Amino acid sequence: MKKKPIVTIDGPAGAGKSTIARIIAGELNFLYIDSGAMYRAVTWKVLNCKINLNDNEKIVQLAKKMNIKLIQSGEKLRVTVDDKDVTGKIRTTNVTKNVNTIAAIQGVREVLRRKQRELGKKGGVVMEGRDIGTDVFPEAEKKFYLDAKPGERALRRWRELRTSGKKVSLKSIYEAIKKRDYNDEHREINPLRKAKDAIVIDSSNMMAQQVAEKILNEIKLASKFS
Ligand code: CDP
Repeated sequence: MKKKPIVTIDGPAGAGKSTIARIIAGELNFLYIDSGAMYRAVTWKVLNCKINLNDNEKIVQLAKKMNIKLIQSGEKLRVTVDDKDVTGKIRTTNVTKNVNTIAAIQGVREVLRRKQRELGKKGGVVMEGRDIGTDVFPEAEKKFYLDAKPGERALRRWRELRTSGKKVSLKSIYEAIKKRDYNDEHREINPLRKAKDAIVIDSSNMMAQQVAEKILNEIKLASKFS
């Protein structure tokens, strides 16, 4: 039987990667992997253990020892660290503010890249992040780069936070997103980049379902596995 493809979706914060990746994985019955959740999990643990954010050596040791699991439960993805549920804890403002620093550490990226490759190597996976098509699975069959205008991405993130009961100003979200994008694009190791062979989609004026359909059509066109 033909190996099922590896689908990668990269792009900046708030471009809709998680929503789209979840829809696509559900439609194709593929595994959905949120690589950002892994960086967030390490960040949460570092903050929780009160490790100095400049102590790269300790942080890498911690990342090596951590047992991070992504567990699909219906529509939701649960994240556990050493069997403790941290699904909500990894989305706090404090984790979001510091995740860039942790994601810029080479040793942390190596540990997580190994885990990501292990999870996706059999195919039949939709993995989203910043460097999946460029560094984690450069050989992936189908690569997408999802983008949207910064104002639109901030608005989406603001709506998400409002829905979950968090009161934050749109301006602060906009500024935080711009700062995180800048850091992700300018870090030395595995920065956010469009893979040469990625299909670029600007979702500024598109509904999530439309984007998902476009991606699903591209995947089906390319492979006759379905
Ligand atoms: O969902 P959101 O756009 O807020 O971000 P995320 O996917 O949860 O990723 C959080 C952070 O993890 C990003 O801003 C990056 O700094 C880092 N990350 C990364 O460096 N490489 C990845 N493959 C995924 C995330």
